[in-house]
Amino acid sequence: MAAALPDPEADGGGCPRRLAEAMRYGVLGGGKRLRPVLCLMAAEACGASWGEAVAPAVALELVHAYSLIHDDLPAMDDDDLRRGRPTCHKRFDEATAILAGDGLLTLAFEVVVKGVRPAAAAAECVRILAEAAGPSGMVGGQMADLQAEERSAEGADGSAGELESIHRRKTGALLRAPLEMGAAVADAPAEKREALAAYGRAVGLAFQIVDDLLDVVGEESKMGKRVGKDSGHGKWTYPRFLGVEGSRAKARRLGDEAVAALAPLGGRGEPLRALALALLEREC
Ligand code: IPE
Ligand code: IPE
Ligand code: MG
Ligand code: MG
Ligand code: MG
Repeated sequence: MAAALPDPEADGGGCPRRLAEAMRYGVLGGGKRLRPVLCLMAAEACGASWGEAVAPAVALELVHAYSLIHDDLPAMDDDDLRRGRPTCHKRFDEATAILAGDGLLTLAFEVVVKGVRPAAAAAECVRILAEAAGPSGMVGGQMADLQAEERSAEGADGSAGELESIHRRKTGALLRAPLEMGAAVADAPAEKREALAAYGRAVGLAFQIVDDLLDVVGEESKMGKRVGKDSGHGKWTYPRFLGVEGSRAKARRLGDEAVAALAPLGGRGEPLRALALALLEREC
């Protein structure tokens, strides 16, 4: 991961030292690395080596880290703690944090284009990543999340369908992409691609439901981020709509859905099965 990032000590690279430091700060030194792990596992489940999936795996983490830096900004969720440390804009400043996010997002596409072979697989990975991260994916979900918060402030509430649509975009899209990118670098047949995409779709929604739950019942020391903030912000969350037990039940159903989707992979799907179940029990 570190090798993909600009070196603050390098002369003449063009990247200002402060920007390089902020980008490295946002990516290195914490995080579960779930999106890269999903990409490597998906590639392996389709018979490719980890080496073939490293570039897309790194790119996914770069995009994810950018999304966290921007998510924490005062204009968005206004958080001061991330991965057990001050958020990027607290450690540096807002303008630097915005630019560090911009740098990570664009670097991700450079990493895919330079690191994935053949060129057709690189192009497919670029498409998958751009769609997942873009206006109809993560960025669109983040916009909808903030608009829902505004509607809460006006006393309006939404439907469960609207909540699901926000979560599928803001978090689900970038969790399904690793499965699709892993399958793409392995040049997997359609049946396996569809199985992995269905798994990613279920795990992606379950992951944000558990994130919402941990904001209510989790511990800050384990999470490395503030808890108990969503309700104060008027966020639309699963615990708010379904309660804690209802949210747990929904996450479990999605876990079962994810595991069932893996059937076409046979024994090769076992690590992904174990991961889906572990994510339901996570405390961070
Ligand atoms: C947090 O993601 C933000 C969401 C999309 C819910 P993670 O829980 O994967 O954060 P890190 O990467 O482990 O810090
Ligand atoms: C974030 O969702 C989704 C992103 C695209 C980053 P949250 O706002 O709930 O994530 P946390 O709880 O701050 O990590
Ligand atoms: Mg947010
Ligand atoms: Mg947030
Ligand atoms: Mg959250």
